[in-house]
Amino acid sequence: MTLLEINGVSKIYDQGENKIKALDNVSLKIDDGEFVAIVGESGSGKSTLMNILGCLDTPDSGEYYLQNKNVGLLSEGELTKIRNKTIGFVFQSFNLIPNLSARENVELPLSYRKLSKGERRRLALKALGEVGLCDRAEHRPSQLSGGQQQRVAIARAIAAQPPLILADEPTGNLDTKSENDVIRILTKLHQSGRTVVVITHGKKLARIAGRRITIRDGRITGGA
Ligand SMILES: Nc1ncnc2c1ncn2[C@@H]1O[C@H](COP(=O)(O)OP(=O)(O)OP(=O)(O)O)[C@@H](O)[C@H]1O
Ligand SMILES: [Mg+2]
Repeated sequence: MTLLEINGVSKIYDQGENKIKALDNVSLKIDDGEFVAIVGESGSGKSTLMNILGCLDTPDSGEYYLQNKNVGLLSEGELTKIRNKTIGFVFQSFNLIPNLSARENVELPLSYRKLSKGERRRLALKALGEVGLCDRAEHRPSQLSGGQQQRVAIARAIAAQPPLILADEPTGNLDTKSENDVIRILTKLHQSGRTVVVITHGKKLARIAGRRITIRDGRITGGA
């Protein structure tokens, strides 16, 4: 089954004189359960594409269907709901909230659900267990290593069990051991049926993904 599909998507950043075509007529289809790596040089449009796939940004032209819904026709409220239910995000810079514990960070996206406090806690601890961090639940981000912080961010992304994980350079700031941990976790998520889409410069991660999409100057040049 098709999970998402974009048709003829373009995105132009207009800075007066200087118009940058970050995405140029991009079309792409991703099925349920795929593990996709998006690769390409710096500035080629990968994050722009990821932001559109994650409903964090809208294209200037073209269409986006996520689970058969035309994203362009949704209201801001519907979009927030769909994003929260369907997508788990992982970023290069972890984006954890410093004054919350690991568990509290993981509980955050669950707060949009109508769940009891106990249930939220249970799901957060389960997600932390899946990334091997049960024993760090009450640590603050500053008390964790970079690799551990990224695992907390992954736990936060999966706590609400979204079908799609979008990760933008998840191993970009990590040492080799932590990189391997993150790769192992993403592989496990894929094996458990999640769709994983990951932007990466890392050769290892790109190799493990079942499909590699190459993007260059805002155009897909391979793998779509
Ligand atoms: N908010 C913005 N305003 C203006 N230009 C932007 C903006 N965001 C991105 N761009 C430009 O759009 C192009 C694509 O940027 P994008 O961030 O998608 O690249 P990327 O492939 O993710 O690069 P990197 O590997 O360095 O993260 C670049 O030329 C960039 O300078
Ligand atoms: Mg980027």
